[in-house]
Amino acid sequence: MKTIFSGIQPSGVITLGNYIGAMKQFVELQDDYNCYFCIVDQHAITVPQDRLALRKNIRSLAAFYLAVGIDPNKSTLFIQSEVPAHAQAGWILQCIAYIGELERMTQFKDKSAGKEAVSAGLLTYPPLMAADILLYSTDIVPVGEDQKQHIELTRDLAERFNKRYGEIFTIPEARIPKIGARIMSLTDPTKKMSKSDPNQKSYITLLDDAKTIEKKVKSAVTDSEGIIRYDKENKPGVSNLLTIYSILANEPIEQLEERYAGKGYGEFKADVAQVIIDALTPIQQKYYELMESSELDDILDEGAEKANRVASKMLNKMENAIGLGRKRR
Ligand code: TYM
Repeated sequence: MKTIFSGIQPSGVITLGNYIGAMKQFVELQDDYNCYFCIVDQHAITVPQDRLALRKNIRSLAAFYLAVGIDPNKSTLFIQSEVPAHAQAGWILQCIAYIGELERMTQFKDKSAGKEAVSAGLLTYPPLMAADILLYSTDIVPVGEDQKQHIELTRDLAERFNKRYGEIFTIPEARIPKIGARIMSLTDPTKKMSKSDPNQKSYITLLDDAKTIEKKVKSAVTDSEGIIRYDKENKPGVSNLLTIYSILANEPIEQLEERYAGKGYGEFKADVAQVIIDALTPIQQKYYELMESSELDDILDEGAEKANRVASKMLNKMENAIGLGRKRR
């Protein structure tokens, strides 16, 4: 069985973009792969976090993973900081990475742009992500489009390490969905939907209630053409709503274009909102149940135990290959 690894940052709300680009794929893949899904809390502290909010967001993300359908009997769910090998392997991979290639990462450029001081961790974030992936001999990394560059760097680091120290790492591949890999902002459909956007109307969170969803979709930016058709270049707003509808209702975009021929944006938007509400309602119910149960801790304890077993073996291999410490018997 091939191995899958992916992670999500517990940095505030989880958006519909996270769900469509990443989590929905995870659920579909867990039957056919050996899956590891991680709450990457160490990545979250590359920017300042409030202590209590971080703790809450970690727990909340764990509940979301389960609420969307991750089954702990099939997949290993764990918190990054509870598996120390990640930070240790991350350090080693920092020593393999070049500053120049880290500075070229678009996420680093975006997040550091215009800031007077950014943490060194923001720059060295990708080698930690590479460690996450490589520790589990991962074959496939399901992610949204914005993470593609980080996976390419992970491949480069793995190949460089293997060349220098022997064939230790499996070279992973990104798996990016054909549609929905980049869900766009509702207020500016030329930008990615992002939880760090200061305008809350630009994204839908997995906990938004029906009224909020209706309001946000109603005010989503479209165009003045009045025709519901997919054209990413010229009609990014309508195309984004069609994408969301198509994925959540599991209907091809062409079929939706036919159904809404001659109809107005008002009716279309009301239906998009309803499709989102129908998809999120059962997730929300499950989420609130889980947040109140002790089940969550048992699952995370078990996940950390299994992840620690696998990751510490790979870390040993890495350290031995490099010559760190003493030879282990
Ligand atoms: P993060 O937490 O920003 O996002 C989690 C996942 O959601 C996807 N995503 C989107 N997909 C479609 N449309 C959007 N608007 C959208 N916004 C976010 C992301 O592509 C991602 O798949 N560095 C990673 C976390 C990470 C990781 C890893 C991922 C750490 N270690 C190892 C994979 C493997 C991140 O910041 O994702």
